[in-house]
Amino acid sequence: MKHLVLTRFGDPAESVHLADDPEPTPGPGEVLVRVEAAAINPSDLLLMQGKYLARPPLPAPVGAEGVGVVERAGSDADRGLLGKRVIVLPTYEYGTWAQKIVVPAHNVVEVPDADPLQLGMLSINPVTAHLLLDGVAEVGVGDWVGQTAANSAVGRLVIALARQRGYKTLNVVRRTDAAEDLRQAGGDTVLVSGPDLAGDVTRELGDEKLALVLDPLGGPTASALIAALKFRGTAVVYGSLIGAPSGVSPADLYAREVRYTGFWLGNWYSTAPRREIRSTLAYLARLVADGALSVPVEATYPLADYRKAFDHADAGGRGGKVLFTFD
Ligand SMILES: NC(=O)c1ccc[n+]([C@@H]2O[C@H](COP(=O)([O-])OP(=O)(O)OC[C@H]3O[C@@H](n4cnc5c(N)ncnc54)[C@H](OP(=O)(O)O)[C@@H]3O)[C@@H](O)[C@H]2O)c1
Repeated sequence: MKHLVLTRFGDPAESVHLADDPEPTPGPGEVLVRVEAAAINPSDLLLMQGKYLARPPLPAPVGAEGVGVVERAGSDADRGLLGKRVIVLPTYEYGTWAQKIVVPAHNVVEVPDADPLQLGMLSINPVTAHLLLDGVAEVGVGDWVGQTAANSAVGRLVIALARQRGYKTLNVVRRTDAAEDLRQAGGDTVLVSGPDLAGDVTRELGDEKLALVLDPLGGPTASALIAALKFRGTAVVYGSLIGAPSGVSPADLYAREVRYTGFWLGNWYSTAPRREIRSTLAYLARLVADGALSVPVEATYPLADYRKAFDHADAGGRGGKVLFTFD
């Protein structure tokens, strides 16, 4: 049974090795899942570099999310799961970059029949996009949502879910070809960040303002969007891709009473009632199965090519996500 193991924090290509061990046996309350697809997310790369919020004791299994089929059930585990396709909740404990993994049955969720690649990306980015739109601030039909790094997987999912809710999106990207892509994907306004982004945003919005800003980037791009928030509008930081603060000004805070807050999915998974987690995943899985939600796939790799896979996932200018797939 082949699986990736993190032995030290640093450059992922040098910090991970491919191990081959006997198939694990599910204990009481556990199931054995044969993994079909497992995404490589920015958070996985950060975790391997030792820069993420989660920092497991080493050596550690790696890979946070994935989809697969339940092959065996231990005593006390729901035997109804046998043969079912499930996603593994992204607790960062099991290491989905493996041919087979043992997981407590309460940490898998059955999913409908749909493309395994899309299901292998369900538990992090779609949930994040859904909660950013519905869980942090009040946004109404016809309101504008502004976002940076809008061609990321989260950004594309925000566009799709915002359209379903009747919100308009103002999207900022750093590449012209990505802008065209997002227009095709339904972004209402798409801007390429440039020296006068704030002016471009004002021109596009006319008399209107943003109700919500979603920012995984930081720096001047985020500041330009925050400057266009309405009175008591909300800005949510959910990543730090360029590692710079957004530069929210004191006047933004005291004169326009902008709400400046953050979001981390790990908090939701560790505090939300299990019922809410299951119903949220069921709702999003149904949208994936219906074809209403999808994320472009840039490439898939076998586990043995993990170095190439990490380099590819870390590269800018990708057209979609990079995943591991398994024979
Ligand atoms: N807080 C949470 O709970 C949570 C949950 C999920 C994701 N996230 C965060 O959300 C962000 C997006 O995740 P994802 O999986 O959707 O990403 P992704 O699909 O891998 O896409 C990465 C995006 O970041 C852009 N980007 C990277 N470096 C950049 C830079 N220096 N300047 C401008 N743009 C840059 C890329 O633009 P190009 O296409 O031009 O290269 C691309 O749009 C990540 O920071 C991730 O950690 C946070």
